[in-house]
Amino acid sequence: MQKKVTKSSDIKIISMKKICKSFPLEMGGDQQVLFDITFDVRQGEFVSIMGPSGSGKSTCMNIIGALDTPTSGTYELYGRDVTHLTSDELAVVRNEYIGFVFQQFNLLSKRSVLDNVMLPLMYRGLPMDERIHRAREMLRRVGLEKFETYLPTQLSGGMKQRVAIARALAGDPKLILADEPTGALDSKMGNDILSFFKKLNQEMGITIVMITHEFEIAQYSNRLIHIYDGRITYDGRVPRDERALQQ
Ligand SMILES: Nc1ncnc2c1ncn2[C@@H]1O[C@H](COP(=O)(O)OP(=O)(O)O)[C@@H](O)[C@H]1O
Ligand SMILES: [Mg+2]
Repeated sequence: MQKKVTKSSDIKIISMKKICKSFPLEMGGDQQVLFDITFDVRQGEFVSIMGPSGSGKSTCMNIIGALDTPTSGTYELYGRDVTHLTSDELAVVRNEYIGFVFQQFNLLSKRSVLDNVMLPLMYRGLPMDERIHRAREMLRRVGLEKFETYLPTQLSGGMKQRVAIARALAGDPKLILADEPTGALDSKMGNDILSFFKKLNQEMGITIVMITHEFEIAQYSNRLIHIYDGRITYDGRVPRDERALQQ
């Protein structure tokens, strides 16, 4: 019998154990938002984290993306314990390991497309000509090599998001972390971006974690983690029918 080929490797990019997060309430006490979140993501996976509004997706994403730290539990990013780092240390980890793609693109509107893509390379100590070379290579990957002198405002939403993806890839991250990446796009452009993510994952083995509240969008990934009221209620293959997520 033929052995089943899986693309994900044994290298853990994300390892979360019993992550809890609480926020202080103004009137005293605190509100717990995440409860015992435990999961691993291995190199080469394309995972969606899905849940309704208010379920804790952004809070979870902020911890995954080293933008915030948990109240308790442990988080290892590429084998390194990042649970208790200071904000300066978190910034270094983010720049080294993670490429971010946001709903609103977060491009610098007064800088050229090429400058935007070069941004993550600023702190890498690379000579300028190498930075330019690498940024052009990334723009070629997303099919925007002819637009390097444009300003983001001159591009369509779908093109802006492709610039953001080129920027995310430029730093050669271990992980692309995308927060509602199609939320500001019409469905045609959204589908293009999702197909592009799928291609990056399948053809280049890029590890992707995508936050979404829509089941149709999660369909593009290979694994779905469903969060409801701060708890994981499903973790597995993306089911054909959304009703499989309701218990
Ligand atoms: N910085 C914060 N301070 C206080 N409460 C917060 C903070 N961030 C999120 N929350 C609360 O945590 C819950 C989950 O929010 P969030 O993670 O943004 O959910 P989602 O992204 O799934 O919509 C909400 O009740 C929200 O009000
Ligand atoms: Mg959110």
